[in-house]
Amino acid sequence: MNLWINNQMIEANEGQTILEAARVAGIFIPTLCDRPGYSPAGTCGVCAVEVEGEAGTVLACCTPVRENMRILVPQSGQLPGGDDLDDLL
Ligand code: FES
Repeated sequence: MNLWINNQMIEANEGQTILEAARVAGIFIPTLCDRPGYSPAGTCGVCAVEVEGEAGTVLACCTPVRENMRILVPQSGQLPGGDDLDDLL
């Protein structure tokens, strides 16, 4: 299936999470509780991304991909929703 991350079209397989699909495509999504050898715990919230048409954020490590999904991954130093981390500190 095809989907978009930060306006880049990528291919993903049914059953993959957003995080898995992003990694295969070489797109970095920060994580903390998702570690090799462990099932994603979905507890830290570090992998939060925005999905077009959905309110709030979703966890990339726990959310399965869907056809034509449009995902926005915050850039370094930016929080989901577009707030700048420096402005909060
Ligand atoms: S990596 Fe911790 S909630 Fe996704």
